[in-house]
Amino acid sequence: MEETKGRNYYVRQLMKSMSHYRFQFVMSIIVKAISMSAPFLSFYFMAQLVDFDNGVFQIKALLLFVTVLIGVIFSYLDTYVSHKMSFGIVRDLRDRCYEKIERIIPSSNHRSLGDYEKIVNGDVDVFEWFYAHILVEWIATVIAIMLGLAAVFYVNRLSLVICIITILLITFLPCIKTKQAEEKGYELRNYGGALNAAIIDGILGVKDILTNNYKHEYMSGLMEKSRQFDKCREKYNRSGMNEKRITELVINLSALAIVLQLVVTNGAFDLKTVLLLFLFSTNIYGTLQQTLRDGTNYGFVYGAAKRVYDLLNEEEVVKDNGNIVSIEDDRQKKWNLEVKNLSFKYPDTDKNVFQDLNFDAKANEIVALVAPSGSGKTTVANLLERFWDYETGEIYINSIELRKLKISALRKYISMVPQEIYLFNMSLADNLRLAKPDATREEMINACKMANAMGFINELPDGLDTVVGERGTKLSGGQKQRIAIAQAILRNTPIMIFDEATSSLDVAKEIEINDTLQKLKKDKVVLVIAHRKATIEMADRIVNLERAV
Ligand SMILES: Nc1ncnc2c1ncn2[C@@H]1O[C@H](COP(=O)(O)OP(=O)(O)OP(=O)(O)O)[C@@H](O)[C@H]1O
Ligand SMILES: [Mg+2]
Repeated sequence: MEETKGRNYYVRQLMKSMSHYRFQFVMSIIVKAISMSAPFLSFYFMAQLVDFDNGVFQIKALLLFVTVLIGVIFSYLDTYVSHKMSFGIVRDLRDRCYEKIERIIPSSNHRSLGDYEKIVNGDVDVFEWFYAHILVEWIATVIAIMLGLAAVFYVNRLSLVICIITILLITFLPCIKTKQAEEKGYELRNYGGALNAAIIDGILGVKDILTNNYKHEYMSGLMEKSRQFDKCREKYNRSGMNEKRITELVINLSALAIVLQLVVTNGAFDLKTVLLLFLFSTNIYGTLQQTLRDGTNYGFVYGAAKRVYDLLNEEEVVKDNGNIVSIEDDRQKKWNLEVKNLSFKYPDTDKNVFQDLNFDAKANEIVALVAPSGSGKTTVANLLERFWDYETGEIYINSIELRKLKISALRKYISMVPQEIYLFNMSLADNLRLAKPDATREEMINACKMANAMGFINELPDGLDTVVGERGTKLSGGQKQRIAIAQAILRNTPIMIFDEATSSLDVAKEIEINDTLQKLKKDKVVLVIAHRKATIEMADRIVNLERAV
C-alpha cells in the first residue's frame, strides 16, 4: 500500500537518515545540554556573591569562574560535535541524491537540471540546520529547561508556576502556525528551485539568448520568477516576525509577574532571590526563544525534506531488476545483438516513436541505422544503453535479454559516442581517462591517432594536457567528436554505437574515421547512426528505421 506522505513520513525519513550517526547524536545532545545548563550554576554562584559572608567569597568567585569556563568550553565543543554529525549526514544524503539522479536523469522529462541542482545543493544543505540546530537543540533545550525549572523550584515554588505558564505560552503560540509554515516553506523551496532552473537555463543558453535577441523576454521571465520567490519569502519571514513580537511580550509580562508575586507573598524585596529568579527565568526563556526561533525554520526544513525524499523515493522509469552480471562466458561465441518486435513510446506521449522494429547485428560487421531526423535512431541507442525502458519487444545480446542483465553490467559491454558530446572541464588526458582510468599515455595517443585527433591535439598549447573548458567549449564540434571517438576506442567494448559521431567532420576526415571503424569492427558489433552518404556506404548492412514507424 502506498504510504500517505504526510508530515510524519518526512520526519521518519529525516530520522532514518541519521541512523548511522546515533552515537554522535547522543554526544551532541549531552554536550549541548551541558553548555545550555552551565549558566544556571554560574547564576547561582553569581547571586551568592551578593552575600558578603567573609572567607568564602574567594571560593564562590572561583566556582563562578569554573562554571563560566565550563559553559564556554562546552559551547565550543557543541559547535564542533553537532556540526561534525550534521555535515556527515548531509554528505551521505548528497551522495544518495546524486546516485538517484544518475539513475533517473537519462529518463527524466519532468524536472529541469537547475531544479535537480537546487535539491542536491540547496535543499540538502538545509538539513544541516535541522540536525545541528533544530533536533539536537530541541532535546538539549528540554533537558536544560527541566534543570532550570528545578532551580527555580528550589528558590521559590510559586515562581515555578509562572515559569511553566510562560513556557507553555511561548511554545504553544508558534505551533498554531506550524502547518502554515510547512506549506510556505515547501512553496518557498519550489519557487527557489524554479528560479535556480531559470538562472542555469540562462547561463547555459546565453549564446542562444544573444543570437536570437531573446534577452528582454528571458529577463522578464527571470524577474517574474524572482518576484514570486521574494513575495513568498516575505510572507514566510513576516509570519516569523509576528511570532517573535508576541513571544517577547509574554516574556516581559512573566518577569513582571514574578517580581510582583515575590513582593506580594513575602511583603519584602529580597535582592538575592529576585536576582536569582530573574537570571534563571530569563535564561530559561532565552534558551527556549532561541530554540523556537531556529524552529521557525522548520517550515524550511519540511519543504526541503519533501523535495529531497520525494526525489530519493521517486519511482525509476528504468527498473534495474536483472541479476546477470556477466556475459563473459559467451565470449567464445561471436558477439551479436538482436532487436525483436521492439516498439517504444515516450511517457506522456500518445504515438509510438517506432513499432515492431526488427534487426540484428553481428560481430565483424558495421550496421548503419538510417532514417529521417526525428524517427527514433537516438532513441534506439538509448534503449540499448537502457537510458529508457521498453515494454513491447525484446533486445538480446548474445541471446540474453537486456532486462535480465544488471544495468551496470550491461554498460560494461556497450560504449556510445553520443550525438551531443559532453567533455568535462579538465585536460584532454583526464577526459580520456574517464573511458579507461588506467590508460597509459601511449594508449591515449594511439586512440587519438585512430580517432584522427592527434593532428589538432599536437597543435594545442599543452597537447594532451590542454584543459578543454567547460563542456569542452575550447574545442570545435568536430574536435570534440574525435575525442569522444577516442574515448570509445579506449573503452574497447564488444558493442559500439556511434550516433552521428562524424556529423561535424569534413568528408576527408570522415572517410579516415570510417577506415578506423573498419579496423575496429573485428570481433565487435558496430552500430553507426548516420545521415551522410560516405558513412552509410561503408556499412556492411543498412537498417531502415522508417519501415518500423
Ligand atoms: N525525452 C523525450 N521525451 C519525449 N519525446 C522524445 C524524447 N526524446 C525524443 N523524443 C521524440 O522522439 C522522436 C525520436 O527522437 P530521436 O532523438 O530518437 O530521433 P533521431 O532519429 O535520433 O533524430 P535526429 O536524426 O534528428 O537525431 C522525436 O519525435 C522526438 O521528439
Ligand atoms: Mg538522433
